[in-house]
Amino acid sequence: MTFRLLNINELESTILSTCGAKTVLKKITCSISLIVSLSMAKQKIVVLSGAGMSAESGIKTFRDADGLWEGHDVMEVASPEGWARNKELVLDFYNQRRAQLKEVKPNPGHFTIAKLEEHYDVMVITQNVDDLHERAGSNNIIHLHGELRSIRSVKNPTIKQYHEGDIKLGDFAPDGGQWRPDIVWFGEAVPELERSIPHVMEADIIIIIGTSLQVYPAAGLIQYAYKAKQVYYIDPKPKSNYELDRTANLKVIEAGAVEGMSLVYDELVS
Ligand SMILES: NC(=O)c1ccc[n+]([C@@H]2O[C@H](COP(=O)([O-])OP(=O)(O)OC[C@H]3O[C@@H](n4cnc5c(N)ncnc54)[C@H](O)[C@@H]3O)[C@@H](O)[C@H]2O)c1
Repeated sequence: MTFRLLNINELESTILSTCGAKTVLKKITCSISLIVSLSMAKQKIVVLSGAGMSAESGIKTFRDADGLWEGHDVMEVASPEGWARNKELVLDFYNQRRAQLKEVKPNPGHFTIAKLEEHYDVMVITQNVDDLHERAGSNNIIHLHGELRSIRSVKNPTIKQYHEGDIKLGDFAPDGGQWRPDIVWFGEAVPELERSIPHVMEADIIIIIGTSLQVYPAAGLIQYAYKAKQVYYIDPKPKSNYELDRTANLKVIEAGAVEGMSLVYDELVS
């Protein structure tokens, strides 16, 4: 259903064309049913997920391990400088992360988010590079920081393709550029940010889950929650940042993703 502003004459002709209503009583009945159908349009939920979302699936978070990502200094494996220093190490790191996807499964928290689509218009904006939201059945997902199952040319970020196996030094894209992981590294632009902001602005409800709120601009997205009547933040060790401290209607749920999503689902769907 699309919404637009109508003046009174347009409203009258909408009622006439929708219900063919000519008498006053029929017009009133028609107006009521139009209002009811408008109010039945699904409310919009935006889920902002981070590494903690996948912790109960067995994928390690980043900051829980003293700033190391699977034993590596993050600047070694997730920055253009690290890439320039040691391409083989970086390729190998992401080859391992990609291979790990075959050993892990979405957890009940991922499935609960997908199930919300039965009742709400749901958009998942994730910092995660795994594919667990997809495999749980969520249909609308933005990967702010890229995806493990996508690779791109070092010469041209728009030359990309779906990829399951390893990438080796000397594997080239059609433009002759070395293939690299299609991951947004520290210091690189976040092209999906622009597409994400309007979703946060339109959200009636926001669920922030499993993020330490340290990586910007993702951590600042909550500042665009202009109309959200409820914001949930689920994390067993909740953090804060400048934007969250200024968020209205915030409810912090100190729990893991599975338990926290179950509580939020019961509240939203009861
Ligand atoms: N699964 C992945 O794709 C993955 C994994 C590690 C890191 N990363 C990348 O590293 C960056 C890390 O930033 P971040 O804020 O997403 O993660 P982070 O590691 O900085 O923070 C993780 C948060 O998850 C919380 N957490 C731990 N266990 C949890 C659970 N069971 N349920 C819910 N929350 C739990 C922690 O308390 C912490 O606040 C991101 O940019 C992301 O792309 C991705």
